[in-house]
Order: sequence, then structure tokens, then C-alpha cells
Amino acid sequence: MVKSTTKAIPIIEFSSVSFSYGDRRIIKDVSISLPPKKITAIFGGSGTGKTTFLRLVGGQLNPSKGDVFFDGKSINRMKYSDLYSARRRMGMLFQFGALFTDLSVFDNVAFPLREHTNLPSRLIDDLVKMKLHAVGLRGAASLKTAELSGGMARRVALARAIALDPELIMYDEPFTGLDPIATSVIANLIQKLNSALGITSVLVTHDVEVSLKIVDHCIVMAGGEVIGQGSPEEIRKSHNPQIRQFIKGEIDGPVPLHYPSETYEVDLGIKHAG
Ligand SMILES: Nc1ncnc2c1ncn2[C@@H]1O[C@H](COP(=O)(O)OP(=O)(O)OP(=O)(O)O)[C@@H](O)[C@H]1O
Ligand SMILES: [Mg+2]
Repeated sequence: MVKSTTKAIPIIEFSSVSFSYGDRRIIKDVSISLPPKKITAIFGGSGTGKTTFLRLVGGQLNPSKGDVFFDGKSINRMKYSDLYSARRRMGMLFQFGALFTDLSVFDNVAFPLREHTNLPSRLIDDLVKMKLHAVGLRGAASLKTAELSGGMARRVALARAIALDPELIMYDEPFTGLDPIATSVIANLIQKLNSALGITSVLVTHDVEVSLKIVDHCIVMAGGEVIGQGSPEEIRKSHNPQIRQFIKGEIDGPVPLHYPSETYEVDLGIKHAG
């Protein structure tokens, strides 16, 4: 028997990617690849560029240098129709939920199916029920968004993110604002969906403890750069002071807390800049 030697193409690969907002460099020469069919966490403090990272993957932003590859093709060099097809293969759970407030739970989940497919409505009905069942909310289909708890809303957003059977799902801070129980429910769902659907998941978060329990691979970012990566075990044991500060949630350490600014004296008019 001939053994295949073809190496699996990583579903997401950053090749020397830099990105700036105006003069501010947010992502600095980042080269990483995400292992297929695994859950990767991208850790980093607030403002380190985690959401920016996901927007580069989705092609909503373009790198100022380098390439972002999705399934071997450069997202930033694709023509729009190819980008549109690539996006259909990605599911996204947005940082702030972003459900349509005047639609029911059912219609929120049906939305991408109606928008992106020509499936008959009976089939859409069945698919929506399946997706809601997967997040334990089939019984809540007729509720309005306003009638949901924060944890339920997050699960509806998750059902919507998997509506089109994505190969890649990106979670932007999926645990923000949830109590510990709702957080565990979402964490378990992320893990269950990843293995049941055989997809690749990217979890962008500063919620370290809960994430380390469910992810396979971690990438730690600070100041727009990758400062370390490895398995949760390796990250826990890291001696890198920046990683340790982040993992332990310490305020004092090498990772700066402040958005870049003039010195305090200049800002208060005590001294002149320069
Ligand atoms: N549209 C924009 N224009 C200019 N600067 C922006 C814009 N969006 C984000 N930034 C800046 O880019 C940096 C990275 O932002 P990003 O949203 O990626 O951070 P983050 O790591 O997701 O933070 P958080 O954990 O708070 O969500 C921040 O300093 C932010 O101020
Ligand atoms: Mg963010």
C-alpha cells in the first residue's frame, strides 16, 4: 500500500503579517499556523490585536504586509467572489453577541441560511431546529431576543454561527459577561461542536483559566507580536515573564497596561512633547 505523504494544509496560516491602523502598528510580522480540526486559543490583553487578528482572517481587514492564507489561498489577494465563498466556510461568534434584536431566536438562526442558500423553507426549518438542538435551545425557537438570558443569547449566536456548517469557527470573547455556570456551558459547547462537527476553532479571549481546559493549542500575543505558543500544559509551565503575567492575571509585570500616549506630564501640560 502506498502511504500518503501529503501534509495537511493548515486551514489558517499567517505569513509575516503586519497590520497598522494609520501609524499604529497593531500586528507585527506575525507568522503562525493553526492546527486543523483543533481548538486554538489566542490569548492577549485588551487592545493587543485579537479582534484585529480575526478580522484579518475574515478578510474584513487587509494586512499592510504579508499574507493570510485560508485553506492554502491568500485571503487578502482573492477577488471578491472568492472571498465571499471563503467567508461562507467560516462561522463567527462576535465579541458582543450581535443578534438581531427584533427577530425571534428561530429567525436569527435562519438568517444566514435564507441569505446564503436557496434551500426550500421546510429544509431551512429542519436545519434551524438541528442547530438549536445542538446548543440545547430547540424549545426556545419562538422566543424574542429580549426574552433571553445572556448565556442563552450567546448560545443562539453560536447556533447561528454554525448554521452554514462552517469548517472554521471563530469565537471572539465568548465568555464575556457570563457567570461561571453559563461560561462552563459555552466552553463545553465549543468543545463538543469542535469534535462533533470536525471543524477548526479559534478562540480569542483573555479568559485564561476556562480556555486552558478546553483548547489544544495556545498562541500568546503581546504588543502585536506572538510571544509564545504551545499546548496548555506548556503555557502553564512557561518561564517567560510576559506569559506568566498574563496567565496569572497580574497587573504588575512586563506587559504594559496603557494605550500608547504622551507622557503624563506632557498630557497635563506640565512639559512639552519631544
Ligand atoms: N477601527 C479602528 N481604528 C483605529 N484603531 C483601532 C480600530 N479598531 C481597533 N483599533 C485599535 O487597535 C488595537 C487592537 O484592537 P483590537 O480590537 O484588535 O484589540 P483586542 O485585543 O481585541 O482587545 P479587547 O480584548 O479589548 O477586545 C487597539 O489598540 C484599538 O484601539
Ligand atoms: Mg477584541
